[in-house]
Amino acid sequence: MTEKIVILDFGSQLTQLIGRRLREINVYCEIYPYNKIPALDENVKGVILSGSPFSVRDPKAPNPDLSAIKGKFPLLCICYGAQYIAHTCGGSVNPSLAREYGRAMLSIKSESPLFADIPQKSQVWMSHGDTIAQLPTNATVIASTDDVENAAYQIDGEQTYCVQFHPEVFHSTYGHLMLSNFALKICGCSGDWTADSFIDSCVADLKAKIGNDNVILGLSGGVDSTVAAVLLHKAIGSQLTCIFVDNGLLRKDEFSSVLASYKDMGLNVIGVEAGKRFMDALKGVSDPEQKRKAIGRTFIEVFDTEAKKIKNASWLGQGTIYPDVIESVSVNGPSSTIKSHHNVGGLPEEMNLKIVEPLRTLFKDEVRRVGRALGIKNSLISRHPFPGPGLGIRVLGEVSEEKLAILREADAIYINALRNTPAPEGWQPASGAAATGGTETGEGYLTLYDTIWQAGVILPNVKSVGVMGDERTFEYTVALRAVVSTDGMTADWVHLPYDFLAKVSNEIINKVKGVNRVCYDISSKPPATIEWE
Ligand code: XMP
Repeated sequence: MTEKIVILDFGSQLTQLIGRRLREINVYCEIYPYNKIPALDENVKGVILSGSPFSVRDPKAPNPDLSAIKGKFPLLCICYGAQYIAHTCGGSVNPSLAREYGRAMLSIKSESPLFADIPQKSQVWMSHGDTIAQLPTNATVIASTDDVENAAYQIDGEQTYCVQFHPEVFHSTYGHLMLSNFALKICGCSGDWTADSFIDSCVADLKAKIGNDNVILGLSGGVDSTVAAVLLHKAIGSQLTCIFVDNGLLRKDEFSSVLASYKDMGLNVIGVEAGKRFMDALKGVSDPEQKRKAIGRTFIEVFDTEAKKIKNASWLGQGTIYPDVIESVSVNGPSSTIKSHHNVGGLPEEMNLKIVEPLRTLFKDEVRRVGRALGIKNSLISRHPFPGPGLGIRVLGEVSEEKLAILREADAIYINALRNTPAPEGWQPASGAAATGGTETGEGYLTLYDTIWQAGVILPNVKSVGVMGDERTFEYTVALRAVVSTDGMTADWVHLPYDFLAKVSNEIINKVKGVNRVCYDISSKPPATIEWE
């Protein structure tokens, strides 16, 4: 089993970031709500307490019993965590008088393994309304800032370290080194959790769990379901049957090219051409939510019919990833709802299958790294997210074959141009992306596509007047969208170069019959959303 660090979440927005930072130094970690502390077996090398929107002085603040942890495991307490230890172990926490938000200069006051190889003065990021007025019993201050005397302390005779700042944020210049000191030097983790080691242990676990049973998995063409399928295939080979449904709302040539790639990878995949059924279900429907429901319902019916043809299947494989799983703690207490995975939400209970989710401990960029380590092609791994209802929610209003055909052509021109255009100097890959230009596997040059989180064309239900040659035209407008984001919750529009936009606009108007106008969407989320419906 893998060694790990357990992070107890007190509801801070930054808790996932602590997890990310540890994974970046190849240390495996798991996040749990503070009131669902897991059994701490010999694989647990240390524990981290997160920040929180609460004040420890609030009667409703989280107050877990840490007697099985403090003094028994190496413990790093961040922000609320540090205040909670002070509050419950003989110290005191008061509202802070000085400003304790933003950048501050940390001065190390006394030697500590937490600060190994860190300069005596360095920048940290503070974000709290309370401050530790008096340290807990047996504690020593190890660092201060101008405004905060007890910025960091440790408990004598224990491996308990407390910091009021946030080492996990980028603005804490040596924060990553503090987390690395804690995980590697203090907890003694080996830091050998890599994509390859994940694949080895995951494949062994899947073999043990599934044995000789059969598994069904729905492929969407997206990164998560593809990587989940390849991992399962590596573990159980022909016991896995994949189902890839063509809902008639995919991009140009997507069904045939993705299906061919799946077959090339040796996957046992059934391609189901169900476009007509989806179009029938969408007939006369123009409300965005009703469209989503019609598409979702039809998907379940089609998938269920195909799945029933597979004999002796007892497992359903899913591409659920870690952010879908983590139970976040809301200000009003821990939430009991786990986000349902878009692509499988609502599969009928009576299918009576056990669920297997090989990626449920991975973040999105880790799924991509694992995919690359499995040798999956860049054209699959580097794909932008694509919504389950597909082009059905990018044709605004009622969907028709004519509008879908126009959208597909325009979208293909735009996406190909993004994939084939080198990014300007200084542009960075989107979160978790690699440089894929000019190559199908491994690294190439950085393309515009690689720098974007999600891009696509929208067909608003709008026709406008134009002129082509001597002729008046009355044709569709299309809108190009490109955003950067980390999780789709917020997004900024991308400042694509004007000459690139000019080239794409020209090509679309010249080549796509039925379009005489191209717009670029310059709205961020919020207040807009990424998709238009
Ligand atoms: P919005 O439009 O809400 O989209 O800003 C955020 C992200 O979610 C995707 N999205 C969906 N994915 N089913 C899906 O599987 C849906 O109904 C759906 N709606 C939006 C969207 O593409 C973006 O990545």
